[in-house]
Amino acid sequence: MSRKNQTLGEFIIENQSSFKYTSGELSRLINSIRLAAKVVNHEVNKAGLVDIIGAAGDTNIQGEDQQKLDVYANNKFIQAMTKRNIVCGIASEEEDDFISINSQDENHQNKYVVLIDPLDGSSNIDVNVSVGTIFSIYRRVTPVGTPVTIDDFLQKGNQQVAAGYIIYGTSTMIVYTTGDGVNGFTLNPAIGTFYLSHPNMLFPEDGKIYSVNEGNYSHFPQGIKNYIKYCQMEEGDRPYTSRYIGSLVSDFHRNMIKGGIYMYPKSSKNPNGKLRLLYECNPMAYIAEQANGKASDGFMRIMDIEPTELHQRVPFICGSKNMVEKTEEFMRNA
Ligand code: AHG
Ligand code: MN
Ligand code: MN
Repeated sequence: MSRKNQTLGEFIIENQSSFKYTSGELSRLINSIRLAAKVVNHEVNKAGLVDIIGAAGDTNIQGEDQQKLDVYANNKFIQAMTKRNIVCGIASEEEDDFISINSQDENHQNKYVVLIDPLDGSSNIDVNVSVGTIFSIYRRVTPVGTPVTIDDFLQKGNQQVAAGYIIYGTSTMIVYTTGDGVNGFTLNPAIGTFYLSHPNMLFPEDGKIYSVNEGNYSHFPQGIKNYIKYCQMEEGDRPYTSRYIGSLVSDFHRNMIKGGIYMYPKSSKNPNGKLRLLYECNPMAYIAEQANGKASDGFMRIMDIEPTELHQRVPFICGSKNMVEKTEEFMRNA
């Protein structure tokens, strides 16, 4: 049972028993993400003070080296999950290879791996526009008691047990799913507590917003060009409008609330698209499906794609069900 204004801490405890693996390990993991999110939020909020406290690469007043925010966020999330010995492995956009985690007393006993984009949309930081964090959680497939291998990370999206994002926007929110719908929690910064503000989030079946970097238009596949033209030339009261922040988390979040489609297709510049399957597309796809939306590469379901490498890119089309299906129809017929 979820109640509006419930804290995230209460929500995690109260909903733990409805989750199919009830060891409490997953709850501890989400708790550690909640904690790191607050720390990163605090740092992201100071980004505008860069001229005063020093830019990345500088040394600050305490003699500490200032880090780029995506490196900072990466370190904070990894620390939160390793220090409390909660996961057996982490893969991150900021790390070439996955990290195997073990502590002497635990001996690889943890069951979950996490894949993370610690700071998504980081180019928006300098101009005071919303950024995010994306995470994806799986049960390991290799035996407990042994070090993790690449196979634990190269799982199809349909094997995810939880996924979520944090949005550092006008408000800071955590939105996540453990396979039983999508819930959104807003941070009250005065007391550092997340409250359930958006219970059971759902994409409207249809939408009016399309979000795509139209600067790449001439490089897009014909099916995408045709869909964009369709949005622009709808007869009568033109129902569509274009919104593109260039921050996947923010664009997705708006589209989920208002109804819309996000597209990062392949192009002649990016033959596999730009976004990463394992820590951008799969978690967003899982949230979308749990919220009654859809995610596709233009032809097939994102979560059914067999991953072949950690930092693999795929074309990504995600949002309101009818809009994604319409795009797929244009792709098939192009
Ligand atoms: P990241 O900051 O993690 O590298 O991801 C940026 C991604 C995504 O957030 C955004 O939607 C997309 O890149 C924007 O790309 P373009 O600037 O090419 O439109
Ligand atoms: Mn990203
Ligand atoms: Mn990133």
